[in-house]
Amino acid sequence: MSDSGKDQNLEKPLYEKSLSRRDFISWIIKGGLFITFLSMLLPALEYIWPVTRRGPVGGANDVGRADDIPVGSAKKVDVSGTPLILIHTPQGFNAFSAICTHLGCLVGWDSQKQLIACPCHAGLFDTTGRVVAGPPPRPLASYPVNVVDGKIFIKL
Ligand code: FES
Repeated sequence: MSDSGKDQNLEKPLYEKSLSRRDFISWIIKGGLFITFLSMLLPALEYIWPVTRRGPVGGANDVGRADDIPVGSAKKVDVSGTPLILIHTPQGFNAFSAICTHLGCLVGWDSQKQLIACPCHAGLFDTTGRVVAGPPPRPLASYPVNVVDGKIFIKL
């Protein structure tokens, strides 16, 4: 049997082995390097991993379920701070900016006329966003809408 501390340490049961300051610092450094490596590896894997999820990607925003908006009705939604009006027509969903092209009032849905109405100066837009009455000089800006698995996605 040797008198060196290293050999004594080997003869002790595992629960009695003490961790030297050098070993402790070595483990901290190894742990830090491992975490640093993972923090670089995970974004790289995420970048090269094939997209297998179904549904729109690239900035499409989930604005709710299609079942919640019956045909002939509309819903106002806020997508990243942009107010939109989403209309369910017999042909599908249309999304427009809810900001009137006249002087910027927020438009709403007139369910009786089936038109988008501006309350400020009686501007009216049809379900394609075109001006049908009033002073607005341009149609409402439109945005692409996709319905995937019953969910509505709008891309700004
Ligand atoms: S602001 Fe909409 S019609 Fe004037």
